Amino acid sequence: MPTPAADHVNALLASYQDFPQAGILFRDLNPVFADATAFRALIDELAGRFRGEFDAVAGIEARGFLLAAAIGYAADVAVLAVRKGGKLPGTVLSEEYDLEYGSACLELEIGQLAPGARVLVVDDVLATGGTIAATSRLVERAGYRLTGVGVVLELTDLVGRARLGDAPVHAIVAL
Ligand code: PRP
Repeated sequence: MPTPAADHVNALLASYQDFPQAGILFRDLNPVFADATAFRALIDELAGRFRGEFDAVAGIEARGFLLAAAIGYAADVAVLAVRKGGKLPGTVLSEEYDLEYGSACLELEIGQLAPGARVLVVDDVLATGGTIAATSRLVERAGYRLTGVGVVLELTDLVGRARLGDAPVHAIVAL
């Protein structure tokens, strides 16, 4: 049974063929974020699914930041920014990963949370799973515990979930 958040996503999700390159069907969630009622429903579902199970929420650049900030505020927990390579100062951990198109690097500053802190990772889309798998490795290497993964949209054809570990994965919509 679709949730209120899923209904909003299904109604507002936009798709663009051949963006950012030929052969890619780009899923654009910005229209969902741009609808106040829909955005609140996303945050309520993701924060509610993992209520009491996380001490911090880590958002992945770029659209994951939007979700993490709101979930952090709603749940009154810390917010971590997992950034693309070369953006963070100080001592950072780095993880290379493959994208559906190309490859990239994600980074996390160390020492922001107490050892063993429970971290929820959030992003807009789970596609091949490379991005969230790399983030999960960063969380573990930083000394924290990955307690869940929350995404708005899971593209099941790309079987990204199979690349993730044991932590529960919640997708508001799976296509
Ligand atoms: C998109 C999306 C996810 C990632 C999912 O981000 O926002 O972060 O791809 O892909 P995967 O499951 O195949 O790894 P993108 O890398 O395009 O960066 P952006 O958010 O900065 O546009």
